[in-house]
Amino acid sequence: MVVANPQQTTGVSQKATQQRPASQMSELEVLIRARYPLVYVISWEEQRVVGEVCRIASRLGKKVFEWSITTGLVPGGTACVSTRHKDAATEDPLIALDKVIEDTEPALYVFKDLHGFLRGQNMAVVRRLREVAFALKSTYKTIVMVSPLLELPADLEKEVTILDFELPNEQHLAALLDRVIQEVKDNPKVKIELNPTIKAKIIDGLLGLTIAEAENVLAKTLVQNKGLDEKGLDVVYQEKKQIIRKSGLLEFYEADVSLQSVGGLDLLKDWLLKRAVGFTEQARRFGLPAPKGVLLLGVQGCGKSLSAKMISNLWRLPLLRFDVGKVFGSLVGSSEQNIRRAIQVAESIAPVVLWVDEIDKAFRGAKGSGAATDAGTSARVFGTFLTWLSEKKKPVFVVATANDVSMLPPELLRKGRFDEIFFVDLPNEAERKEIFRIHLAKRNLDPAGFDLDRLSAASIGYSGAEIEEAIVAGMFDAFYAKQPVTTEGILVSLQQTVPLSKTMSEEVDELRRWAAGRARPATSQYQPRQQGRVLEM
Ligand SMILES: Nc1ncnc2c1ncn2[C@@H]1O[C@H](COP(=O)(O)OP(=O)(O)OP(=O)(O)O)[C@@H](O)[C@H]1O
Ligand SMILES: [Mg+2]
Repeated sequence: MVVANPQQTTGVSQKATQQRPASQMSELEVLIRARYPLVYVISWEEQRVVGEVCRIASRLGKKVFEWSITTGLVPGGTACVSTRHKDAATEDPLIALDKVIEDTEPALYVFKDLHGFLRGQNMAVVRRLREVAFALKSTYKTIVMVSPLLELPADLEKEVTILDFELPNEQHLAALLDRVIQEVKDNPKVKIELNPTIKAKIIDGLLGLTIAEAENVLAKTLVQNKGLDEKGLDVVYQEKKQIIRKSGLLEFYEADVSLQSVGGLDLLKDWLLKRAVGFTEQARRFGLPAPKGVLLLGVQGCGKSLSAKMISNLWRLPLLRFDVGKVFGSLVGSSEQNIRRAIQVAESIAPVVLWVDEIDKAFRGAKGSGAATDAGTSARVFGTFLTWLSEKKKPVFVVATANDVSMLPPELLRKGRFDEIFFVDLPNEAERKEIFRIHLAKRNLDPAGFDLDRLSAASIGYSGAEIEEAIVAGMFDAFYAKQPVTTEGILVSLQQTVPLSKTMSEEVDELRRWAAGRARPATSQYQPRQQGRVLEM
């Protein structure tokens, strides 16, 4: 993802682009060729960035220098080799930046620790960088700042172009795997049994990780499994799950919800079934775009989260849950970084279902009333997310769920963000029967032994979750009384609960009114209800 600076209009060097098609260039190379003076690369992988800069430099016949506070400005690739390569005179960033301006030859400069000065709002460095940006505009020199976090003072926003360095792709990981195999192949204690299929699966399992993380996963697999073979795949998957979870906002979910275990919602299911082939090559050739995402709006406990899990199961795609609540967790300063990393991980695993549960919570934060948010960060964080939603190219299908529409900003609902917005209402009579059937069967009870008509009639206004709870409560009563579970028993537990739709009838009505003109019903027998009352459909 590039956040390009529209004010920079320096043209791409014609000669250079003719030599190498733009489609084969990394985004960093495109920016360097276009003579952007200051590029801010966000990545944990300093060495990969330096490597990429060195490759670009050799293609363009430019020199490379690296700068850090411990080495000063030294020739590229030497900084971590030994302390002999040290230029104490340029350890001061201001002097190093002066040197960059004074140099006359085409060169690329990787600055590693500059973000520390920017974070501290070191005004001298900020000012000098603005001057450098101006001075470098008409030269063949580019400064590439590398940092795991985005720490850019507002003063520099116009001068600096931000670039998210993509996580390693299949080729990078294949090269890593080959290198690791090469390193251990002579070790008699390690057994390597890999055919191309298993290799591809291992590589697939490593997507979403940095090179260092992937290397750790392979090392651990080698140790635990005493080699690399099909059995090692499990270790790879487990390790990757752990790493993704640790990195904050994302979590892999088991997609164990089948189409049959979700009651009702026929229109939603129909829509999803038609798009099940949406990510195939055939669909692309037919001229179809890959599905982008759906927003599921609706009453609590009616199957929104359940449907998200169903989609991944139906489409046989991995399910990644994105925890929006954590975006504005205690580490506010890194919110933006969190969201960027989450997007990157999802993209590198694509095709994937990205489940953004309770997205309304995020915007509660974004509106500034959340506990630890500041308006500037929130707006930026969600700006990043919204832009990505409408511009994403990778097959990441976003399933967002929400039940508080008052929190949703109009930008989120604008055309192009989602393919469709579905409204999930309380289940109608037929749907309630189906939900009873599903949950009775799930608990080893034969639905044929129950009067589903009566149960359904007695549960008007109950959500799927409340129906499930009533069944469980009825079972507890029966178990305690050492009696079989009966229709009457469940009817009693239904009577003992007051459904949310009663206690929160105003909110539910408001939601329906809002959805009437804006969202598509998830159920075909849907009829708008009369206001103020929970009516049967
Ligand atoms: N249509 C349904 N079919 C079968 N079970 C259902 C259905 N709706 C709800 N349930 C049951 O209720 C539970 C809770 O539903 P779910 O978590 O999907 O609700 P939700 O719409 O996401 O609610 P919330 O807005 O509170 O997050 C489900 O795990 C499931 O057991
Ligand atoms: Mg939910």
